[in-house]
Amino acid sequence: MRPSTIAIDGPAASGKSTIGELLARRLGYLYFDTGVMYRAVTWVALKREIPPENEEAVTALAATLHIDVLPPTVEDGRQYTVMADGEDVTWSIRRPDVDANVSLVSTYRGVRTEMVRQQRRVAANGRIVMVGRDIGTVVLPDADLKVYLDATVEERAWRRCREMQARGEPADYEEILAMMRRRDEIDSHRAISPLRVPEGAVVVDTTELTIEEALDRVLSLVEERECRPA
Ligand code: DC
Repeated sequence: MRPSTIAIDGPAASGKSTIGELLARRLGYLYFDTGVMYRAVTWVALKREIPPENEEAVTALAATLHIDVLPPTVEDGRQYTVMADGEDVTWSIRRPDVDANVSLVSTYRGVRTEMVRQQRRVAANGRIVMVGRDIGTVVLPDADLKVYLDATVEERAWRRCREMQARGEPADYEEILAMMRRRDEIDSHRAISPLRVPEGAVVVDTTELTIEEALDRVLSLVEERECRPA
């Protein structure tokens, strides 16, 4: 049987969203990037001048904020459209001030509980590629296939730098590298659902791989599972 729920975890810029989207398209599955939910909460908090350090206020916001992830509504290179309380926040959630605060916001227990609840609901019908930090460990521990994508922090900083330049945004490699290290530290050491390799996951190091090569590796894992007797 072809795996129906596929969990992809890994650190920032390890290739999760690129590979996840291509894989989902190839299989005709839904692609769901769970990071956008934490980003949407962070962006709306900043916009409403709720300090990201205020756990209580940010948690209250997460409990009431209506986040929707839809197929692209505008052809501007986006993978999907993210709506927060009716506002298109697809590009705002990629801003540097969101990058700088999202890891803190995602450490909050109440925020995570709410996001995980919504993510499980989306995954309930199967045929999904779900991408994040805790998908194989917490959100979908029984996923049919679990992949952990990794790459060196230097390579990941270069990727983020090139992405920003491609969008015409100013990008300083050293600054991005420092921020990437800070985010890795928070994501991997937080008390609740820290980033780690899920039990039963296959680790794919993408440092030296092209996008096509990484996709081929993951596709071959899908095929391998398909051929296994149930
Ligand atoms: O994948 P990303 O860079 O868009 O994720 C943004 C942040 O959200 C990341 O620093 C950690 C958090 N996150 C999380 O804690 N759990 C997830 N499943 C996805 C993202």
